[in-house]
Amino acid sequence: MTIADEHAARSAMVDICRRMNGTGINQGNAGNLSLRHGDGFLITPSSLAYDVMQPEDIVAMAFDGTYVGRRPSSEWRFHRDILKNRPDIDVVLHCHSVYATTVACHHKAIPAFHYMVGLAGGTTIRCAAYATFGTQALSDAALTALEGRLACLLGQHGQISLGKTLEQAFHMATEVETLARLYVQVLTLGEPPILSDEEMERVIAQMKRMSYGFGPEPEGSNDVARPRAAG
Ligand code: 13P
Repeated sequence: MTIADEHAARSAMVDICRRMNGTGINQGNAGNLSLRHGDGFLITPSSLAYDVMQPEDIVAMAFDGTYVGRRPSSEWRFHRDILKNRPDIDVVLHCHSVYATTVACHHKAIPAFHYMVGLAGGTTIRCAAYATFGTQALSDAALTALEGRLACLLGQHGQISLGKTLEQAFHMATEVETLARLYVQVLTLGEPPILSDEEMERVIAQMKRMSYGFGPEPEGSNDVARPRAAG
């Protein structure tokens, strides 16, 4: 890993943090972000406003909890534990987006009221049990809620979204917030019908086949629509 690579990674993290606040999925000094890097990971510092944060403020951490630079996010344990236990994931994003946090304050999971819930990898977006911020107990609860998933809510706290890239994790966090907002709105008309597990299995398989939301359709994934030459 060259110094230029590391600087580019740090800059890309600052950019995502600013977008988190700019799009409204995070506010104030809430939220944190990590990216697997070399033998360890890069993580946002604790309590530093994103609009003043610079690439050199990002903290380099090892999996044993040692770090170089500023004090890392108070949530370094769940970032470390998720990156350690999920080789499919390189980015962990945590934010207090308003609607996801609204649902999490009721300790409710988001059920399959809409097919897009499948984007997080299952029939629900689970809600982790409450534990004090920054604790190992919160990390353990988050890891359980994220089993086989790319996102979860944190009881009376916020949400965590995962990705292979910074863009994917940001996209997932935005989708979770949109779904939570829809769910809160849908509940104002009464309890909605929930899609069956069989239907959600089809949805998730179809999403995987199409890299839904995350990339171009792989060749042969769509047997009806085909690109043709212009003219
Ligand atoms: P940090 O500033 O320490 O990352 O804490 C913010 C937060 O959201 C705690 O859950």
